[in-house]
Amino acid sequence: MCGIIGYSGNNSALPVLTGGLAALEYRGYDSAGIACWEQEKIEVVRRKGKLSVLEKALEGCFPESRCGIGHTRWATHGEPEERNAHPHRQGRVTLVHNGIIENYREIRRQMEQKGYRFLSDTDTEAAAALIDSLYEKDPLEALRCAAEKLEGSYAFAVLFEGFPDCVFAMRKGSPLTAGVCENGALIASDLTPLLAYTNRYYLPEDGEILVLEKGSLRLYSQLLEPMEPVFRKADWTPEQAQKGGYRFYMEKEIHEQPRAFRDTVQPRIREGIPNLEEDGIPDGFFRKISKLRIAACGTAYYCGMMGKALIEKLARLPVEVEIASELRYREPIFAEDEAAVVISQSGETADTIAAMRMMRERGIPVIAVVNTPGSSIAREADYTLLTHAGPEIAVASTKAYTVQLAVMYLFAIRAALERGTISREQAEIDTAQLTDAEKAMELALNRKEEVRRFARSLLRTEHLFYIGRGMDYAMALEGALKLKEISYIHAEAYAAGELKHGTLALVTGDTPVIALITQPELEAKTLSNLKEAAARGCPVLLIAPGEVKWDEGTQLIIPGNGGLFGPLALIVLLQLIAFCAADERGYDLDKPRNLAKSVTVE
Ligand code: M6R
Repeated sequence: MCGIIGYSGNNSALPVLTGGLAALEYRGYDSAGIACWEQEKIEVVRRKGKLSVLEKALEGCFPESRCGIGHTRWATHGEPEERNAHPHRQGRVTLVHNGIIENYREIRRQMEQKGYRFLSDTDTEAAAALIDSLYEKDPLEALRCAAEKLEGSYAFAVLFEGFPDCVFAMRKGSPLTAGVCENGALIASDLTPLLAYTNRYYLPEDGEILVLEKGSLRLYSQLLEPMEPVFRKADWTPEQAQKGGYRFYMEKEIHEQPRAFRDTVQPRIREGIPNLEEDGIPDGFFRKISKLRIAACGTAYYCGMMGKALIEKLARLPVEVEIASELRYREPIFAEDEAAVVISQSGETADTIAAMRMMRERGIPVIAVVNTPGSSIAREADYTLLTHAGPEIAVASTKAYTVQLAVMYLFAIRAALERGTISREQAEIDTAQLTDAEKAMELALNRKEEVRRFARSLLRTEHLFYIGRGMDYAMALEGALKLKEISYIHAEAYAAGELKHGTLALVTGDTPVIALITQPELEAKTLSNLKEAAARGCPVLLIAPGEVKWDEGTQLIIPGNGGLFGPLALIVLLQLIAFCAADERGYDLDKPRNLAKSVTVE
């Protein structure tokens, strides 16, 4: 949930640490802090609020330092106050942490009995005290013993008094990446801060300990045996993780969608049809299973709903979609010959990881549709299908959703062909239409001014409904989530036919109702539902292809002809509506309040 960074090398540490925290800030921005070795002493500077507040406080600090650690926080234990900001210091130990120490109360009690005094409400400070209590002469031994006592998840970067210019790091359950470049060695919560220096990275396993010292990286096993790190090579470039001339990452990421879509789809088309063998998914996979269960969170879950609609429609394969955080606790009944799909941009969402592990323990093969190479989900799944959105930095997911959706189409066509519900010829037609959707997405991006005009009309809107049927309902859910999370408009999605069964009572002259229609067979019914809403005096908007005739209110045209692939252009419009509505209100589009991109706690 938080972002951590550590550096030791020949360069000035401060710009490396603050630059790294800027890349990690999407993980949380309640507070930020840095600790550096400066003239043989460890100094800490922390501030409540975004990194920019800390940067002001850091002016003139740490001129000599070549080594330090940093943190950007999404509050879990304790309010977003300076005293709860990391780094935390106890005795001779100063550390930053991402994760949750589940037995922190017990540890804190034990440490208080030993005379430690606590200044924060965090679980992290208990871990700092524990490590300090175990630290006699050897930091490695202290960390190894602490790992035996700590329950929960963590990635730590630790400075130990007595070991100047060294950063010690250890993980269990929380992500950590390490890299070495000409001028130093780094660890960080993810790859993005490293990309400015190197594209070679090492992903430590749970329990391994890393030591950064003046540009070198040493690795130790859980038993403290020295090991040789095996580095991976990242395809991501530093430019991909920058704004590239746009005002916001979200804006850039919306515009990258046609490219991301092409990069994800094209390599998986062979002889005119989807082929997933390079992803390790064997020919006939979808023929041999009796059911597919999709588990994910948030936007990825709504993509799963689209997956269900597409796969059931085309391949007649039953699909169940699960909110990952619910799956474990409702004692699901698994069918024989069932397979699962987990969908995740980060590959680090704790609830999705837990759902995946549970299903694998029950012997269910899991396909991961994941955007971040080397992430926990990418590493643990039975089959990993990487989407090629590139790094997604804005908290609101846009391009990652679109590439996940593209994969749902590939699955649906492939499964339909394998199960004989469509002919080879039809599969080729569908695949061609899928690749063609890129053009409609481009055209949708050109509608930005029209969307902005509509977004201005929402300036005073507090509540809004999206309605749709079938796939359009799944799209409505994603459209409403986008609007909620960045514009703070209370937007709800409703199955169009369901509105009149109670919720219509909430519709007033100040509550816009927006209907989505991409599926021609549902047009008449959804239009009737929109008319029912209009009759109650609320502002109405139709988002549909040009062929759908509507003369009772505003219409935003979806480029293309709608139908099976219509949602791919529709999603661009829904994202632009959320973007423009939030921008008109002057909000920070990349860092919506209370949220963090990567939710690594359950
Ligand atoms: O990294 P993941 O795809 O697993 O993340 C899942 C959700 O947390 C994520 O989609 C979230 O809902 C987005 N902020 C929505 O824009």
